[in-house]
Amino acid sequence: MPPMKPFNPKFPFFLHGGDYNPDQWRHIPGIVDEDFRLFPLAGINSASVGIFSWAALEPEEGRYEFGWLDDIMDRAAKQGMAIVLATPSGAKPNWLARKYPEIRRVARPDVLAPGDRQLQGFRHNHCVTSPVYREKVAEIDSKLAERYAGHPALALWHISNEFSGECHCPLCKAAFREWLRTKYGSLDALNQAWWTGFWSHIFSDWDEIDAIDTSIDGLVVDWKRFMTEQHATFIRNEADALRRFTPDVPVTTNLMGFFNGLDYWRIAKELDVVCWDNYPMYHERPGETETLAARIGMTHDLNRSLKGGRPFLMMESSPGPTNWYHHNRLLRPGMHRMKSIQAVAHGSDSVQYFQIRKGRGGCEKFHGAVIDHEGTEKPRMFREVAQVGRDLQALRPVLGGITKAKVGIVYDWESTWHMAATQGPLQELKGAPLGNALRHYRPYWKRGIAVDILNGDSPLDGYDVVIAPSVFMLREGFGARVERFVEAGGTFVATWLTGIVNETGLCFRGGFPGPLRKVLGIWAEETDYLYEDERNSLEFREENPLGILQSFETGTVCDVVHAETAETVAVYGRDFYAGTPALTVNRFGKGEAWYIATRGDDAFLDAFHGALASRLQLPRALEADLPEGVTANMRENENGRFVFVTNFSSEERRVDIGPEPRRNLLDGGTEVSGSVVLPPFGVIALAPM
Ligand code: GLA
Ligand code: ZN
Repeated sequence: MPPMKPFNPKFPFFLHGGDYNPDQWRHIPGIVDEDFRLFPLAGINSASVGIFSWAALEPEEGRYEFGWLDDIMDRAAKQGMAIVLATPSGAKPNWLARKYPEIRRVARPDVLAPGDRQLQGFRHNHCVTSPVYREKVAEIDSKLAERYAGHPALALWHISNEFSGECHCPLCKAAFREWLRTKYGSLDALNQAWWTGFWSHIFSDWDEIDAIDTSIDGLVVDWKRFMTEQHATFIRNEADALRRFTPDVPVTTNLMGFFNGLDYWRIAKELDVVCWDNYPMYHERPGETETLAARIGMTHDLNRSLKGGRPFLMMESSPGPTNWYHHNRLLRPGMHRMKSIQAVAHGSDSVQYFQIRKGRGGCEKFHGAVIDHEGTEKPRMFREVAQVGRDLQALRPVLGGITKAKVGIVYDWESTWHMAATQGPLQELKGAPLGNALRHYRPYWKRGIAVDILNGDSPLDGYDVVIAPSVFMLREGFGARVERFVEAGGTFVATWLTGIVNETGLCFRGGFPGPLRKVLGIWAEETDYLYEDERNSLEFREENPLGILQSFETGTVCDVVHAETAETVAVYGRDFYAGTPALTVNRFGKGEAWYIATRGDDAFLDAFHGALASRLQLPRALEADLPEGVTANMRENENGRFVFVTNFSSEERRVDIGPEPRRNLLDGGTEVSGSVVLPPFGVIALAPM
């Protein structure tokens, strides 16, 4: 295996640090000295600096104050630390907003009230189109990059912060119309693509187009695509300014998991390395920690997948409670380690926090931090952070390791947007694409089988199983790609509400699931949406290729399906469609394509994917049956294969790791084999002897 490169080869260690705001403490002497004394005690080797520091860096237009930052950079270099240096565009200084009001966002106008420009204040609320803002941002970015080019502590550029939201100012509107003109070429083409004959919405002039008409779903989704594009070019404008002076320093921006507002597949193309902010609310309610653990696992996998499997960074997480959940519970002892190592197990090359020192003021003064208001190394959370610092040292051989996944689950933002923009078919299914993806992910998570997340245009080769859970919109060519994948021996699984509309929201003609009808060998003629308390059942036929001899509960969605070339594997138990297909398989070339016509309960999905996994002998991180609440992950590199086994439950669990002796890197490298006891929230990291 070729050596894996860390995101910046000059810093060959797991980053352990996070948001650090010394500029807010400049008036209190001794604080920075104390911070740099505490860093090594907590194993902190990195800090993300300057994220909201524009007013400190440029107190008035054209007058710069870099002294405080020079000091931090130099101290960091002396301690061998990696600085993640931010561009300050996430929050605009008051003087800038006063001088150039156009940089303030215009809120979405509804049909009655015209959009007002937002008042200055808060953050993350600039117009991404404004040429003045782009210019001012590029200016301050260039100053930073020029000043710190070649600085030994500069490891990574952190562009802005958690991009989100939209702007409806005249500049954005005009840019949207231009974008549409380029995309469609003519108004005729646009009118057809958006089906504007409906309710007399035909556009006869580009200027008539406004993003506020939610009755045109093609328009709604195009607006979201456009806003994503504006963010992407906003990021590129910043990256260009930085790369001019520091071409070797990678750039990133902190993403927010499955945040619905921006298409991260598109945003990731602008970044050298992907990172995300992870705030799971792990707490003690029985059962919930495990469900959450699977969801967070899938989100880590998304981040690994956004850059084709390269390690990502966990840019933020809380070393304690947050201040913005309804209940900001304390992390139970051991939970901090569990969630930190979870990120590493899924492919993160860092554990970073918001934040290192807790502020005395501002609206986040109660948010967890490495250094509490108390100010010393004594608090419990500081000590738990220090433990993670030691863990990351011990895990050094894992750095850069990748995860090979044979299962891919399709999650396409644009498809989710289309589902949400459509009126019907069932209000409660608006979140189905993500919810359904997670339900299909969990059976693999439970078995320690690695999963990649795929976009609707990702290549499918190399996978054994590709799952399309409620992929409502199919991209051009998706059907043909699935056919080639299955022909060549792949196993494809599609579910209800997959293959309904094209990229502009028009329903496929010729029967659902549109371009997948041939490969799936079925026609979904009608769909029944059940009341919440109604159930049907899913009965396996006696002779079935999965060997499941059971019936399961189902509800919410029941497609009424004709098996055309497919074999019926399970049927409905009730209603006028009793006895008709609820689960089918179509043999196609060397592979097979499954259609799950109804929502099915978790037990069904577990049995179904469990059977697929054993038939296809999908590789597991650990050849063992894992107890409830435990998962296993593998990362590999030139140093070998490393297996993480984590107990997300609040009870002790016993796992058989097999006869071969290995070293547990999280326990001083002690030799382990056979039956191992994992305490509540316990984790082990197995390395070859
Ligand atoms: C986000 C932001 C941080 C901070 C944290 C608090 O992730 O990026 O600036 O507000 O939330 O949890
Ligand atoms: Zn705007």
